[in-house]
Amino acid sequence: MDAKEVAARRAVADVQEGMILGLGTGSTATHAIRLLGERIQQEGLRIRGVPTSQRSKAQAEQLGIPLVSFAQVTSIDMTIDGADEINPALHLIKGGGGALVQEKIVACATRELVIICDANKIKPQLGAFPLPIAIIAFGWQATLRHLEAFSYPVHIRTHTDGSPYRTDDGLYIVDMACGTIPDPVAFEQKLKSLVGVAEVGLFTNLAQRVIVGYEDGTTQIQERS
Ligand code: A5P
Repeated sequence: MDAKEVAARRAVADVQEGMILGLGTGSTATHAIRLLGERIQQEGLRIRGVPTSQRSKAQAEQLGIPLVSFAQVTSIDMTIDGADEINPALHLIKGGGGALVQEKIVACATRELVIICDANKIKPQLGAFPLPIAIIAFGWQATLRHLEAFSYPVHIRTHTDGSPYRTDDGLYIVDMACGTIPDPVAFEQKLKSLVGVAEVGLFTNLAQRVIVGYEDGTTQIQERS
């Protein structure tokens, strides 16, 4: 069995009638969106989704999942999303798929953020995965210099043809190879205070529950204390 799908299935089983649901982005969240579509088809489950990217929006529309925006809702009951790294305090690195800005806006409006993953994402410390940082395109060279001052290798994310990757919001992404991030809460605040930085892929104190899926079909659930 696909461990990511196992985790997604467990999370989607908790979705209840009438919920407003944040729809995450990435290969793990894709399973969750597909399984939600199945529940809508098979059980007539009525939910409404708030997508975190154009990709998730397109998938949800294809599956007939009704969507709403922040013009219609003020809070989200539950969001199901993936992550690139998760530490024992349930702090996260997200944004490997480039959707960190919308993912964080949705996560911060959510009563329960449920992270689904396989065991490879669970780490004793954050930082081995390069930290995605979304920056404003204007003056990106100046912002990059501010980020270089932390003395970690940084690079602007590009497509294979060398052109800069743009988020759904038209931002650039800098990937910062930190190695380890001993204090994710403080580091998130430090980076966010820099002019030109739009959002940081550190999601601290946001995840309530992490569901780890395994190939044998079992799951392990970690809750934030
Ligand atoms: C998208 O921008 C990311 O935050 C993803 O949620 C994260 O990269 C996990 O992606 P996978 O589920 O594809 O590993």
